[in-house]
Amino acid sequence: MTLIKSKGWPATRLRRLRATPQLRALVRESNFTAAQLILPCFVKEAAKKPEPISSMPGVVRHSLKSLAEEAKQAEKLGIGAILLFGIPSKKDAHGSQADEESGVVQEAVRTVKRAAPKLAVITDVCLCEYTNHGHCGILTSGKQRVLPLSPPTPTVLADAARSGKASGCGKRMPHHGPLAFGSRHPLTSYVDNDSTLKRLAAVALSHAKAGADMVAPSAMMDGQVRIIRRMLDENGYESLPILAYAAKYSSAFYGPFRGAVGSAPQFGDRAAYQMDPHNVDEALREVALDIEEGADIVMVKPGYAYLDVVRVIKERFHWPLAIYQVSGEYAMVKAAAARGWLDGDRAFKELVASARRAGADLVITYEAVSLAKQL
Ligand code: PBG
Repeated sequence: MTLIKSKGWPATRLRRLRATPQLRALVRESNFTAAQLILPCFVKEAAKKPEPISSMPGVVRHSLKSLAEEAKQAEKLGIGAILLFGIPSKKDAHGSQADEESGVVQEAVRTVKRAAPKLAVITDVCLCEYTNHGHCGILTSGKQRVLPLSPPTPTVLADAARSGKASGCGKRMPHHGPLAFGSRHPLTSYVDNDSTLKRLAAVALSHAKAGADMVAPSAMMDGQVRIIRRMLDENGYESLPILAYAAKYSSAFYGPFRGAVGSAPQFGDRAAYQMDPHNVDEALREVALDIEEGADIVMVKPGYAYLDVVRVIKERFHWPLAIYQVSGEYAMVKAAAARGWLDGDRAFKELVASARRAGADLVITYEAVSLAKQL
């Protein structure tokens, strides 16, 4: 004990304040409300009805119609915001559908705004769901060698195959040895930072025009917040906030997501732009730069394997901070709960508490609806 002079037991008995639910509530140090939860949703251009995602039990690829219903429910429950990801029918090298005025996410924003006008809409700003190679930006060649990726898991591949014919994900990859990725995309292909920035700015602007309340750049390109901020300001959206995926790690925990949207890279991996999981000083640099460039909220992602990063960012920057409980973290709890190995509801609540305890203001979780219902 530091500050308190205590003789310890029997004068001090910490169990006294744990004796009843009322006493425990009285001295509880952190709490959360539905308003601090953000619900990520997938919307698929070609979907006529919601399609279940087997690696993410309870999560679907929405049609516009089912998305509207989900948004109404989220609004009614007082959930803080919905975070939208689009799955287009057509993918190409430049992700040209990503900034289409009538693209899947732009339509989804309009749909949610009509169905649930009081629900804040955030959009993911990235190219990986829209490129046929699955990388988050525009490829160029010859600048940097990318190393081969280990093959995705069978479930991820099955989901990717279901997520739409245009995904292409997994159809070529799993049977190849590392060098075989090179036929269409030579191993020297490289995601070009500065040409990608232009695309990201255009994508963010198209989301703003569609009516998004906030944009969330997640491509991990240097300068992405600055260029998006500038683009928004120049077009009259100076009041539209940016939620920056600031410390986004190159993580195995994105596996189910990539299967769900068909965005697994067709060659190489994302380690040349996403962060190395071993680093924390670098996360501070990322956050410092994003705040300087105009980020209104910063994010750590994945969440629960990185709570130390959350804590140090909160202490250093005192800036609004979000944590993303990503697909793999969600799937782990769901899979264990399905086997009866743990109580899923309790585990999810405990995880949100851990995020809040670590210093996160907001929690992005696929479990938001069910959590909000239990509050
Ligand atoms: C990129 C993006 C990803 C996720 C959110 N935005 C995938 C990636 O970087 O591969 C992952 C979310 C999750 O796993 O739940 N647009």
